[in-house]
Amino acid sequence: MLESEYQKPRQLPAHLRRPESSEPPFAFEIRPAEPQDIPDIREIYNHYVSNSVVTFDERPMSIKAWRAKFAFLKKLGHPLLVAVSPGDQVLGYALVQPWRPKSGYRFTVEDAIYLRPAATRKGLGAALLRALVDASEEAGLRTMIAVISDSGAEASIKLHLELGFQEVGRMGGVGYKFNRSLGTITLQKTLTPSRRKKSPADASQKPRTPFWRRSKPSGA
Ligand SMILES: CC(C)(COP(=O)(O)OP(=O)(O)OC[C@H]1O[C@@H](n2cnc3c(N)ncnc32)[C@H](O)[C@@H]1OP(=O)(O)O)[C@@H](O)C(=O)NCCC(=O)NCCS
Repeated sequence: MLESEYQKPRQLPAHLRRPESSEPPFAFEIRPAEPQDIPDIREIYNHYVSNSVVTFDERPMSIKAWRAKFAFLKKLGHPLLVAVSPGDQVLGYALVQPWRPKSGYRFTVEDAIYLRPAATRKGLGAALLRALVDASEEAGLRTMIAVISDSGAEASIKLHLELGFQEVGRMGGVGYKFNRSLGTITLQKTLTPSRRKKSPADASQKPRTPFWRRSKPSGA
């Protein structure tokens, strides 16, 4: 037997050893997007445009197009949220946009949620989608729809189902990207709108705490 085989490996005393994991906890805050977040939002979205079929957009979206979308959603009062790291790096975003342009559909929106690849699989998607649902309810919206690619979007389908969305339909062959035909899965969630019209009595009351102050940063 060699000496190294019967000698126990030497270990530092406990107080001198490194902690098991030196990775910092995953922390984030969710807040409404600001115009200065647009370049980050664009970068996150364009990554999926160029590298995946989770969106059927085939060309990167320009800053100009994002600015127009930002202004349009703001005018409608539709939420556009970002999740940011403690250093204020945008980790992901979520928004709702009109489901159909006809006025009778005005209380129905379609959601979109995209995280930086490094921020996926850490529970951020669920926190962001929950905050989006809360914000949409506070905006008086009544129905949220998710139209999800039937290929490569398993995480999104799982996430929406976990948050109470229900599958309401599938369509095959409605999309075409990277030389292949793609379908969609549609999920729907009924919201509980909570926005109240301001009455003189309300005016004297304290304003409700906005949703983004209520969602604390959390680890995963
Ligand atoms: C979809 C997305 C927002 C989900 O957010 P997330 O924080 O990564 O979600 P989670 O880590 O909480 O994962 C949600 C569930 O999907 C599962 N999941 C994650 N990635 C998966 C994958 N590649 N394949 C299968 N399941 C997956 C997780 O295990 C989890 O299930 P569990 O709760 O039973 O463990 C995020 O992954 C993302 O931005 N993806 C790319 C863009 C995209 O697809 N957007 C949606 C367009 S419709």
